[in-house]
Amino acid sequence: MNPGIQVAPTVDAANPWAMHAVRILAIRREVPQAFTYELAFEDHAVGERFRFRPGQFDMLYLPGIGESAISISSDPDDPQRLLHTIRAVGNVTRALARKRVGDQLLLRGPFGSAWPVESCEGQDLVIAAGGLGLAPVRPVIHHVINRRDRYGKVWLLYGARSPRDLLYTYEYDDWRRADIDVQVTVDLGYDGWDGHIGVVPTLFDRLHLNPARTRIITCGPEIMMRFVIAACLTQKIGPQHIYLSMERNMNCALGFCGHCQLGPAFVCKDGPVFTYEQMEPYLDVEDF
Ligand SMILES: Cc1cc2nc3c(=O)[nH]c(=O)nc-3n(C[C@H](O)[C@H](O)[C@H](O)COP(=O)(O)OP(=O)(O)OC[C@H]3O[C@@H](n4cnc5c(N)ncnc54)[C@H](O)[C@@H]3O)c2cc1C
Ligand code: FES
Repeated sequence: MNPGIQVAPTVDAANPWAMHAVRILAIRREVPQAFTYELAFEDHAVGERFRFRPGQFDMLYLPGIGESAISISSDPDDPQRLLHTIRAVGNVTRALARKRVGDQLLLRGPFGSAWPVESCEGQDLVIAAGGLGLAPVRPVIHHVINRRDRYGKVWLLYGARSPRDLLYTYEYDDWRRADIDVQVTVDLGYDGWDGHIGVVPTLFDRLHLNPARTRIITCGPEIMMRFVIAACLTQKIGPQHIYLSMERNMNCALGFCGHCQLGPAFVCKDGPVFTYEQMEPYLDVEDF
């Protein structure tokens, strides 16, 4: 874990394996196959204790089916309004997609490292996200908006495959009003789309960053992050100032089972947020 970055302990600090019952309060369809679930702890005392930092994730468990790591996508200053945006891709997430308002599931967490929102204060910030990668950085956007005067220029560069794959479109105007320069792109435009077409790294061509005072936060498909990193290095941003979130198959989420090992690090415990400086040897390997 990166020194100096604060993380929230699991809600049951003495027993990180402890599962807590949560109920689905609301479900919002975001894009094809992806839904946002608002969850509430059944035990109010547990809910009151629950805190998380931007970038942390929970393990969501469906008895008899399995468990999945899912990033928390809501406002860390309002931890009782707990949101997770989930894409149905396999056993657990497809079963989650069949759940309805009022259904129960189990949760343990939060786990993992956090985006370095405190050390980015006083700096310009570029948040570059692709596809569902906007979910783990949305808490950063909330955090920054809640204390906007502590940051310099802030850009959100976001892209998805097509206009209908863009997450949280209903919030972009609020973010712009809060002085975040939101730039959106799609790989494939179609009739009616008059925005930018191209992959996320091409949006960097429009920015003139000051390498001495710019911090980068990026999350999305690994191929996208590689090209974002290349664009940042071209603009002379130091590898220690580029932060990325890695995804690996999780099992224990506690650094015990080795499922998520990446070189010397466990993504569940040392990540998912790392600096490019830490990840460089692994990102540079083809098909790592
Ligand atoms: C830290 C972290 C945060 C995450 N946040 C989110 C989130 O906010 N929303 C969301 O929808 N998903 C998120 N994921 C991914 C999610 O955990 C996996 O998609 C999930 O495990 C799939 O479980 P499943 O049983 O439905 O699919 P499975 O049946 O386990 O797998 C379906 C397919 O996805 C592949 N796969 C499974 N897990 C991963 C993974 N982590 N990386 C790459 N490929 C994988 C499998 O190889 C298989 O091809 C996150 C993963 C991590 C590690
Ligand atoms: S998931 Fe078990 S060590 Fe990371």
